Amino acid sequence: MKYDVDKFNAYFAEHPADISIDDIDMARIPRHVSCIMDGNGRWATARGLSRGEGHKAGILALQEVITACVRMGVDVLSAYAFSTENWNRPQAEVNLLMHLFAKTFVDELPLLKRENVRVEFLGDISALPKKTRDVFEYGLEQTRSHTGMTLALAVNYGARAELTRAARLIAEDVASGRLAPEDVDDSAVASRLYTSDLPDPELVIRTSGEMRVSNYLLWQIAYSEFYITDTYWPDFDRWGLVRAIAAFQGRDRRFGGLSAQ
Ligand code: FPP
Repeated sequence: MKYDVDKFNAYFAEHPADISIDDIDMARIPRHVSCIMDGNGRWATARGLSRGEGHKAGILALQEVITACVRMGVDVLSAYAFSTENWNRPQAEVNLLMHLFAKTFVDELPLLKRENVRVEFLGDISALPKKTRDVFEYGLEQTRSHTGMTLALAVNYGARAELTRAARLIAEDVASGRLAPEDVDDSAVASRLYTSDLPDPELVIRTSGEMRVSNYLLWQIAYSEFYITDTYWPDFDRWGLVRAIAAFQGRDRRFGGLSAQ
């Protein structure tokens, strides 16, 4: 996606850091950046705050990363907000997260409109509490015609559930004669995933130092580059993103073949 040079320079000049935007090659910005936002709870505990305060701070970090990705011309930013396994957290924390999702979404709609960001959800949002679902559906409708960056929020998402769903859809199509078994190939699977309209992530960022994939986009990350930082998600900012992209640009991506050099 094209980026606005003046807005980009102004955004990164706001908070200078020990790394420079000159360290990244703007011609090789990853099209799809994906974030596993981990460490909100630990960030809060380390400050003597409640886990809820950690999630609130995490939302501010997500807002910063959304703006930074828009300024850099990233096509798709995806973020893992709530997994199918997160329902196992204490009910009070689940309720708070659902409330925060709805509130954040209402508060953020002007930003998404101003920046021409199109929202989509990865996962089964029909199972969310009605208020959260209604706000998300309103957001989908309000941003549907936007032509800038796509923000794909994984909510009630699990990769195994997603792949199982795709297998079921394929089975139905085969059983009804719409699809021949010999036509079941990679694209038949990919087109039945929540991400069917998105390119695969080129860069996956995981915060808080955990070396896990946690049931996230298992199909789509086959050739993604991983960047893991010890920073807790609420402390991850525009410069964290610059560091991640600089590291990504230093990698030799071979996709199972030999190096291009
Ligand atoms: C992981 O931290 C984070 C989450 C479970 C939720 C993250 C959600 C957001 C930052 C906002 C998303 C916003 C919208 C509008 C969908 P953790 O609780 O696992 O932290 P811990 O591992 O330190 O306990």
